[in-house]
Amino acid sequence: MSPARRARPLREREFEKASRAAKFIFSKTRLRPKIGLVLGSGLGAFADELTSAIRISYDKIPNFPRSTVEGHAGALVVGKAGEVSVAVLQGRVHLYEGYSAKEVVFPMRVLGRLGIRAAILTNAAGAINREYSRGALVVIRDHINLQGANPLVGPNDERFGVRFPDMTEAYSESYRAIALREAKRLGIAAHSGVYAALAGPSFETPAEIRYLETIGADLVGMSTVPEVIVARHMGIRVVGISCATNMAAGILGEPLSHEEVIETGERVQAEFVALLGALIPEISKNLLEGPSTSQSPSCNIR
Ligand code: HPA
Repeated sequence: MSPARRARPLREREFEKASRAAKFIFSKTRLRPKIGLVLGSGLGAFADELTSAIRISYDKIPNFPRSTVEGHAGALVVGKAGEVSVAVLQGRVHLYEGYSAKEVVFPMRVLGRLGIRAAILTNAAGAINREYSRGALVVIRDHINLQGANPLVGPNDERFGVRFPDMTEAYSESYRAIALREAKRLGIAAHSGVYAALAGPSFETPAEIRYLETIGADLVGMSTVPEVIVARHMGIRVVGISCATNMAAGILGEPLSHEEVIETGERVQAEFVALLGALIPEISKNLLEGPSTSQSPSCNIR
């Protein structure tokens, strides 16, 4: 049997698996979220603020991977942020945990099958740009994928999206402008920058950070990029927000630790929650105006 014929049923299963998970979630709530969020390391508090919320632990959702990292709660919360229904992934899984790129993006595939049209992805990152300080919030302008993996490798399932998705505007310019405007209105100093993703789990060496600086990265982290790729594959608009939890390796000459990442994330949670709370209604308004640059057929489950 040719590799293509052998592999095709596997791809179909991914779509069906995501649909099954979405149906399961819909059986637990009447809400039909149009905005999805992914909350990164130490940034999970936003989900606790939602009203009319249901919370489903990842291990209860069919085919969901389980987070093994401290600071990642591992639950899906569907609820209301003000008047807007949202689906929140509180915690994510990473390549460095041993999951494949496809497993890493499965929760985002499920959000796609729930019918979200916009995704807000958050993460903790190291600051390469010396104008940032520890705890700064950075709205992602673009990314550089150095993870050595792409979740779209393998046969393409057209029900999700096209074979070669455009990444020219991976991060919506209009959402980025809204995020920066809302941050300013709230008195939160926010930057805009380029996020480089590495596989981890070791932090970078100072030489690697100098290299990343040279190629145009402002931030470095171990997540987000695979989810952004599949979100764009599904025609979902993206906004990314990093919390610069530490200066990147070699900048201050101090050792890095996961504890510092969690601690800084927790210190800026209140600002983060306020920014997300302000961003969601604005994005929700924006969803009604103008079509997304959708590249995929509609794949809502109703
Ligand atoms: N490097 C990679 N990932 C990170 C960092 C870092 O310095 N901080 C938080 N996540």
